[in-house]
Amino acid sequence: MSSTGTYNPVMDQIVVTGGARLEGSVSVLGAKNAVLKQMVAMLLAPGVHRLTNVPGILDVELMGKVLDHTGAQCEFYGHTLTVEVPDDLRPEAPLELVRQMRASIIVLGPLLARTGIASVAFPGGDDLGARPIDMHLAGLRALGAEFELEHGTVVGRAPEGLTGAEVDLEFPSVGATENILLAAVLATGETVINNPAREPEIQDLARQLNAMGADISGAGTSRMVVSGVGELHPVDHRVIPDRLEAGTYAVAGAISRGRVRVDNCVPDHLRMELKKLAEAGCGVDRGDDWIEIDGPERPNSVDFATLPFPGFATDMQPQMVALLASGEGTSVVTENLYDARFRYLGELMRMGADVTIEWQHAVIRGTERLSGCPVLAPDIRAGAALVLAGLRADGYTTVSDVQHIDRGYEGFVDRLASLGAVIERRSA
Ligand code: UD1
Repeated sequence: MSSTGTYNPVMDQIVVTGGARLEGSVSVLGAKNAVLKQMVAMLLAPGVHRLTNVPGILDVELMGKVLDHTGAQCEFYGHTLTVEVPDDLRPEAPLELVRQMRASIIVLGPLLARTGIASVAFPGGDDLGARPIDMHLAGLRALGAEFELEHGTVVGRAPEGLTGAEVDLEFPSVGATENILLAAVLATGETVINNPAREPEIQDLARQLNAMGADISGAGTSRMVVSGVGELHPVDHRVIPDRLEAGTYAVAGAISRGRVRVDNCVPDHLRMELKKLAEAGCGVDRGDDWIEIDGPERPNSVDFATLPFPGFATDMQPQMVALLASGEGTSVVTENLYDARFRYLGELMRMGADVTIEWQHAVIRGTERLSGCPVLAPDIRAGAALVLAGLRADGYTTVSDVQHIDRGYEGFVDRLASLGAVIERRSA
């Protein structure tokens, strides 16, 4: 796949000088967590597919490599991704690709559905901690697949093909729901997924699949029903806006005491996050496809807990915590999804945040002054959050390991600069 940029991300740093109030508007692109799965969904139908509103981010490039490995051909130009899927697929995702992007595990279901066999390196953990795939495998087993772990690779076989079944998910896992969905669309008979993930990205995936000829109902509810069909066909699909990118720029406005309008987003996808920003004292205005945030001088304390959609998104937790770190009063934040999602707090504490961590709870005592210093971005959202903290902090904040930020944000530095941030990207 053609590259989305020329840089040496591992060596790059982002340097922010705090104090500027952000003003203006920024438009978000398609959702990372939708497009990655929609790329994989294309494998279900031979022919030429097109996705539009695709962000130029590293994860899209990495998923392009996963698709390339199966024999598909990807071309990315001007936010449009064209993928030609061959009749015969190579049903594998090797370790070097899965290690770079854990979401590659999602090819398991569709490759099994198309070819009856799939070998995908066991993803293990990543920057958010140990991340099991037991629910992915249990769901696909219910459809008739058998799995063995062979030398670190999950080898799935469905010699008799896949047959619809009733699957009860213990937890509304996004990835497990997608893997099962992407297998069930071509299975024989009806599949019912009880307690599926209800994220907007799942709903958009179902829309794309239905346009391809699938028969899925109940996406966005707690019961999805899939009637398997014999074959699917390629379509053009526009990816929904990225609610996490939108939320990140909203917090950028809030933390800098500025006023930022985010265009081309779906405010309903951020209901809980906007509610908490309002509780923190932000002015929150919204239209059909935009939100505007007016940041307070000092945010109020706010308690929240991360939960599956429509709860507060775990992928917005670090950005919100960065805001509360400079607030008045004490906030209690509970992280219910990932055990390593508080790892960045050590870096935020180096900037002067007053935080105590007890297992999955963080107690944040707001402080008037954050102070810029060198910090490391441990993952995508925490990396973005540290840059946002730098907008508020005194002096310079230098964020290293910015390749994490490149995984999920196109032109992060340029977009913040266009809002008035004093920020630049440097080669170390
Ligand atoms: C997706 C998103 C990620 C987001 C997360 C939760 C992508 C590429 N990533 O990740 O940004 O933070 O949803 O909204 O879309 N779990 C199990 N067993 C399983 C599957 C999951 O125990 O088989 C656990 C995970 O360890 C985690 C929780 O369930 O604690 C939620 O995971 P899941 O919803 O599956 O997240 P992902 O699909 O990996």
